[in-house]
Amino acid sequence: MSFQAPRGMRDFYPEDMIWRTWLFDTWTATARRHGFEQYDAPVVEHLDLLTRKAGEEIVDQIYAFEDKSGRQLALRPEVTPSLVRLVAARRTQIVLPAKWFTIAQCFRYERMSKGRKREHFQWNLDIIGAADITTDLEVMATAVDALRALGLSAEDVSLRIGSRKLVAAMLTALGVPDDQQLGVLMVLDKRGKVSDEVLAEMLRDAGIAADLAARIMGIFEVSSLDDAARQVPADSPAVAELRQLFTLAEKAGVASFLAFDIAVVRGLAYYTGIVFEAFDARRQFRAILGGGRYDRLFESLGEPPLPAVGFGFGDVVIREVLEAKGLSPQGGPGVDVCVGVFEAANWPEAMEVASDLRREGFCVDLALGAEGPKSLFKYADRRAARRVVFLAPEELKSGSAVLRDMSTRSQETVALGDVVTAVRRSLAGGIGSA
Ligand code: HAM
Repeated sequence: MSFQAPRGMRDFYPEDMIWRTWLFDTWTATARRHGFEQYDAPVVEHLDLLTRKAGEEIVDQIYAFEDKSGRQLALRPEVTPSLVRLVAARRTQIVLPAKWFTIAQCFRYERMSKGRKREHFQWNLDIIGAADITTDLEVMATAVDALRALGLSAEDVSLRIGSRKLVAAMLTALGVPDDQQLGVLMVLDKRGKVSDEVLAEMLRDAGIAADLAARIMGIFEVSSLDDAARQVPADSPAVAELRQLFTLAEKAGVASFLAFDIAVVRGLAYYTGIVFEAFDARRQFRAILGGGRYDRLFESLGEPPLPAVGFGFGDVVIREVLEAKGLSPQGGPGVDVCVGVFEAANWPEAMEVASDLRREGFCVDLALGAEGPKSLFKYADRRAARRVVFLAPEELKSGSAVLRDMSTRSQETVALGDVVTAVRRSLAGGIGSA
């Protein structure tokens, strides 16, 4: 019997939960600041909703199973198909555009590497039913706001922006037929993960002739939007859209985080327009988040078309990035008061005091098994308790308890009936009351 979690899965010990709760709270508060509503969906999804025939890595990584009635199900590897299902199921009732977010656990049978687990949580934030570029920017501005709220600046991270439409226009200009372009994009997404030689080989496997493959690889030489604009027709809507996006970014106060990057194409088949990924400045880690516009996913699932844009922001890479920068959540949850005794016989009185304090809304822990001053104060320190109320035989004889401030180590004797008032006063002001 192994006591380790299954390979690639994580246990969350209390110290990990401090991180997780802080991150989830930051994501939630950011989404709310930008006017998004929360939704949720089951971890178990219909397998056929998740499978696509575009040669995406994610489809090969699905944890699929059959239930006892023979239904083909899966642990979701991402939330986007479930979001589409939720919206499609209530299409006529949902007011569009819908600005929705969720924090969802996803499962992928990944080859394990830095930043990659077989289970992770993803903050997903999407706008369904709006096609204008302002929508793309609103989604990106929310991502930037979250990065800022986590303590990162434009010197630490950047949101690299590419465009499927632009790369498609460049592929067309190079003579790549429409029906081969998605296959080519899926290969181009592997850049940096495999060598350029392997990439060229993959292009040839996708049916691209060697000389054309070499010219396709030349796309990566493009270093600016102006540079890209020279390679497509002058009236290219893809270029106009990107220019508009960067102008809007200035107004929205997020321009310093944004950078054009032709190499960002994304590995998921459903994107149709602008795509983006956030990376740490030194590119030491994998993508912190990724997303883009997917205007044809509804159609591909047999629904009338509905434009959409959004991103997924995982909990694994961001923790690595923040830890490398020495950033971590400020303090643990701690407790307001730790109630304890010097002798086991005094637990009944201690329970009564704890109960009075809890009724008043204080977070109270009982120092169970830590009787006597030394072990009681050690326990209270470990729990980051701000105050200790203890019951000792001497004080109890006169109907009193002792209130101790754990930061100043000062103590006062308080009548049992006044403990709540004394704790409130003590926590509201004075040294160590922070
Ligand atoms: P994705 O790029 O596959 O996009 O995942 C988004 C983010 O989830 C990644 O940038 C990364 O932070 C995290 N992530 C993904 N796989 C793993 C893994 N195996 N271990 C740890 N973290 C991981 C999507 O899933 C799209 N559905 C996002 C989206 C929403 N696009 C539009 N709306």
